[in-house]
Amino acid sequence: MADKAEALTTGSDTDGADGGGKASPCHVAIIMDGNGRWATMRGRPRLFGHHAGARRVREIVQACPDLGVKYLTIFGFSTENWKRTQIEVAGLMSLFRSYIRKEARALRDSNVRVRFIGDRPGLDQKLRELMDELEEMTEGCTGTNLTIALNYGGRDEVARATKRLAHDVAAGRLDPESVDEETLPKYLDTCVLPDPDLVIRTSGEARISNFLLWQSAYAEYEFIDTLWPDFTKEVFAGVLENFGSRDRRFGGAKG
Ligand code: IPE
Ligand code: IPE
Ligand code: MG
Repeated sequence: MADKAEALTTGSDTDGADGGGKASPCHVAIIMDGNGRWATMRGRPRLFGHHAGARRVREIVQACPDLGVKYLTIFGFSTENWKRTQIEVAGLMSLFRSYIRKEARALRDSNVRVRFIGDRPGLDQKLRELMDELEEMTEGCTGTNLTIALNYGGRDEVARATKRLAHDVAAGRLDPESVDEETLPKYLDTCVLPDPDLVIRTSGEARISNFLLWQSAYAEYEFIDTLWPDFTKEVFAGVLENFGSRDRRFGGAKG
């Protein structure tokens, strides 16, 4: 919880030493969409697009410190993505395993702390082991906080959290009368993370597809046409620039 307290008090940062610069979002969450269309446009199988998308992740993670992004959360595989063909699902799982194997050292050496959110028991044992190892390996890293959502669905997360909360009530560890809007987030997969300030979705779709439902209550949204494999650090910087001119009121009134 110490982590969460630190993150919450940090909040969104400003560029200027005098605090008069443009605000950068402390926590950016990205729905990395459009890999399949990117591949189809090139006459290639969908997995070709997923591989191109995975290569883009490194560039975006590396850009975070310079752009003032302390937390980056990326949507890799949803609880609904199991509906895809067996070939695509198996290819994606294999890609996640090889991504972790290939990137682990570079992530740790770049001081990136990696966490995973989502329903782990639904993933294969080898992938789960690699996820655990990467989390342990980067536990002491103090730079960018990278959270990867795998087998993640916002509704599934809230349902799992509610189940654990109900167990605590049944066991007498939690007074039902004390439950308020601070209680549930402590049971979510994101319990140590601040809420996202900005959610970006690539590929032109304007929906959130079950991503961070609870956490995004006051996030700003950017839906951009760029397909994920074309999302360069320059495109990323441009989207963050727009964020700086947003007026976030959180229900209050201007002035
Ligand atoms: C996003 O790209 C990656 C995953 C969902 C795993 P898509 O595979 O959804 O690409 P499109 O939307 O079909 O183009
Ligand atoms: C959301 O994209 C999930 C990920 C990016 C991992 P989808 O492509 O699965 O979303 P829908 O089906 O278009 O809503
Ligand atoms: Mg898609």
